[in-house]
Amino acid sequence: MAVSNKIYNVIDLKTGKLDPRIFSDPDIYQEELEKIFGRAWLMIGHESLVPRVNDFFHTYMGEDPVILTRDDKGKIHAFLNMCRHRGNRIVRADIGNAKNFMCSYHGWTYSNEGDLEYVPGEEEAYYGALDRKNFHLVEARVETYAGIVFATWDPCAPSLDEYLGDARWGLDVFFNRLDSGTEVVGPVKWIEPINWKTAVDNCSDNYHVPTTHLSAILVQGRHFGLPRTTHEQQFESPNKHLFINGHSLTLRFLERPDQARQTHGVTQENRPVFEEYYRATLSEAERRLGSLRAGKLQLGNHSLFPNGVLGFRLAHPRGPLATEFWHFVVLEKGMPDEIKRALRIGNGNFNGVSGLFEQDDMDNWRGVTRSSLTPLARKYSQDLSMGLGRAGSDPNFPGTVAERYTSENNQRNFYRRWEDFMNAEAWEDIPIEPGTADFEGTATLNG
Ligand code: FES
Ligand SMILES: [Fe+2]
Repeated sequence: MAVSNKIYNVIDLKTGKLDPRIFSDPDIYQEELEKIFGRAWLMIGHESLVPRVNDFFHTYMGEDPVILTRDDKGKIHAFLNMCRHRGNRIVRADIGNAKNFMCSYHGWTYSNEGDLEYVPGEEEAYYGALDRKNFHLVEARVETYAGIVFATWDPCAPSLDEYLGDARWGLDVFFNRLDSGTEVVGPVKWIEPINWKTAVDNCSDNYHVPTTHLSAILVQGRHFGLPRTTHEQQFESPNKHLFINGHSLTLRFLERPDQARQTHGVTQENRPVFEEYYRATLSEAERRLGSLRAGKLQLGNHSLFPNGVLGFRLAHPRGPLATEFWHFVVLEKGMPDEIKRALRIGNGNFNGVSGLFEQDDMDNWRGVTRSSLTPLARKYSQDLSMGLGRAGSDPNFPGTVAERYTSENNQRNFYRRWEDFMNAEAWEDIPIEPGTADFEGTATLNG
């Protein structure tokens, strides 16, 4: 790794060589918390987690604990969960409904809009000299995309619309299909001894699927009648592997508009119910997204820079060698109960801490992270050379599109994006791609 004047060159875009020290170095990790998690727009929650006024949900931005609130006017806020007196945490619950939050140390009490409303002994002990206006909770900027709540600590960050950019063109296919929007169920939480980047990198790695998940794929084939994913199939696949404005997407072509999307929970028995649902909602989806996105594509594995992965899952960093996953199931609000139930059960069977697919991945990610721990192994670069020079623009898709569905183009660009953030003094040094995609249809950032 070359570091001159604090300039990181960890990925060689000509050879695909990656320095593995970024997966374990504690100093680099501390810098990531400041330069990436302190600046980027981070997925922190979903509007359906705080549906009523005065609801709150406890979440994280990097390692910082955050209270997501909906105030009594319906506005959503994100506050650092830190009392402005001596720094104690003021909220200890994961979720709830409250107009005020009282710190359990000395009793300072805040509104769910962040104002310090009550201080014991304000007149007597402080002699009226404490100006409560100076002790508002530390507040992040908040914006939403199709119900997903994002926040950033950096007042100079671009808008969320610019930050997502043309990646939203692909994300809309899953998150923004219908007028009634989505809701999330969860989270299932667990901690893995892996670096957060290993998981994000994997979320558009199509190469690993036939090998890593062979046993799970065979189980799915035997019990649910699903076709087996093979290397040959993937190498010849017309599906798309795209890198857009810092975000990694995969898009798969549907054989017909009412095809049950390839998702955990579809079985031979319930497939007709899914197909009927997609037939019934097609015209609404076409109005919102146009015919290509509504009826010909589905969103595959993907990640939003830095740590939003696989639908709505948060990968909270917990040190260079630990990541806390929060896995949610995303459901369209108008789905029949039978489909919602199948998706919830399918997600539990295949994703999450006990999921068949998840356990395959975890084992590999642990191995990759551990390899960067010894002085000998650290001398050897990781190789991300697959498909070098085989990606570019495509008239029908935004971003940089790999020639093949199986490619390491997204991974190389993910680490280059990491360098963009780590080498920037301020947001003005971080490039944002101008949007060029044709957002056919009526769907917007806000639904
Ligand atoms: S630390 Fe919160 S009231 Fe003192
Ligand atoms: Fe996987």
